Amino acid sequence: MDKILVLDFGGQYNQLIARRVRSEQVYAEIRPYNKITPEGIKENGYKGIIFTGGPNSVYDEASPHYDSAILNLGIPILGICYGDQLMAYMAGGEITSAENSSEYGKTTVFTADNVLFEGLPSESVCWMSHTDYVKMPPKGFITIAHTAKCPCAAMCDESRRLYGVQFHPEVTHTVYGKQMLHNFIFLVCGCKADWKMENFVETAVKKYRTSLAGKKVLLALSGGVDSSVAAVLLHKAIGNNLTCVFVDHGLLRKDEGDFVENTFGKQFGINLIRVNAEDRFLDKLKGVTEPEQKRKIIGEEFIRVFEDVAKKLGKMDVLVQGTIYPDVIESGKGDSAVIKSHHNVGGLPDVIAFDEIVEPLRDLFKDEVRETGTQLGIPHELVWRQPFPGPGLAVRVIGEITKEKLELLREADAIFREEIAGAGLESCTNQYFAVLTDLRSVGVMGDARTYGYTAALRAVTTDDFMTAEWTRLPYEVLEKTSSRITNEIKGITRVVYDITSKPPATVEWE
Ligand code: XMP
Repeated sequence: MDKILVLDFGGQYNQLIARRVRSEQVYAEIRPYNKITPEGIKENGYKGIIFTGGPNSVYDEASPHYDSAILNLGIPILGICYGDQLMAYMAGGEITSAENSSEYGKTTVFTADNVLFEGLPSESVCWMSHTDYVKMPPKGFITIAHTAKCPCAAMCDESRRLYGVQFHPEVTHTVYGKQMLHNFIFLVCGCKADWKMENFVETAVKKYRTSLAGKKVLLALSGGVDSSVAAVLLHKAIGNNLTCVFVDHGLLRKDEGDFVENTFGKQFGINLIRVNAEDRFLDKLKGVTEPEQKRKIIGEEFIRVFEDVAKKLGKMDVLVQGTIYPDVIESGKGDSAVIKSHHNVGGLPDVIAFDEIVEPLRDLFKDEVRETGTQLGIPHELVWRQPFPGPGLAVRVIGEITKEKLELLREADAIFREEIAGAGLESCTNQYFAVLTDLRSVGVMGDARTYGYTAALRAVTTDDFMTAEWTRLPYEVLEKTSSRITNEIKGITRVVYDITSKPPATVEWE
């Protein structure tokens, strides 16, 4: 399989670059620049390299630099933004910084006749975001594009197959960006388009059928997209040697536990153990109001429940985890402030002895996981399921968690979801749910006074959940949802809509 290396210099679009390459059906891998040497690159057999952008200036001492031996490996390179400047700097060119020549946003670029720009008009719109630029391309390079402010918006040394662009071809605002990446991957690097999801399923099934033959394999199934796809994939490979454990912590949405059990246990015939642990979790959460404490308790209790089940099952050889590619990339990064401690099954290998851990989806982006799920015949509603936090409704019931409050929230959330679906808006918002605030207020019904909880509705539009906009849902949908919630649910007297973006708020309330 042909591979492209995306060498990461800290740019915010590095994942996007890899996804764009993969959408051309060529496998792309992101590696931090300081975690791979030129020899390592050579050994890995990459057909091409892309240097990402980055926030630095090449003349800053602390900015990321790289061994210039990479330019002489004979592997084609495309430098983007900082990557372009770095390539120029490494090859002996001159970079300059001028406030009045910085460009940000959509910019007209004039391109020369060059393989990188094949199929493009000579004038098009690109996305710029820079202050520094290449003033003088290095020896052996020629300028192949310019803008009104930037004399060298792209350069190349065709004999060494080195290319650099000051703009960002990976973002959709660069109108012909997709074509430029296509040209680099196929015309310059000569890649074959052989990264296809059907091949992925077939290859993975074959591989695990052999490598896991005769082994007892355990998987923690949450009903989320990643663990579901991992479960069905492995079931296809090893059948009943796979045991899935589904811990129902009592903090799931309405009817969700039954749905998971029916889909995986009955429909797919997977060997599934459902553990109803609601009382255990609610007991531990009694009186707890602090969000981080709730999360920690749930994470730990989850491991304890799982441990109990594993003990009963006896020795298992392999643990399967639903890790996906963005998790792999993120775990390779430096420390960032803990905003919320996300709960997953990462702690399991520490408390239960396994000979081996298998992560069948570790090379896939989320959209590729979904495509794999579709290939495997997993129902659409599950494959396109919106994200649901590990601690479940515990982080959507503000304040102390009780059975009564969970019940109110489940009903309100179900009504909201029904109304969104009824209005055909499911694909217009990326995540939507109800929250039960701890605030009670006075209302009136008939002629009587009521005193009940306030429910909040939250819907967000986002690409990556790192930042998010609140979704502009139609008033009619909000109105109907509010009226149904207050009429149908005794105990909720008021409904509000959350109009905060992330940042400063987060998607979940806790
Ligand atoms: P926040 O609230 O951090 O949420 O803006 C971003 C996305 O992550 C989901 N989320 C979680 N997912 N375990 C998860 O697996 C968690 O503990 C968790 N907390 C938040 C949230 O639903 C949103 O999609």
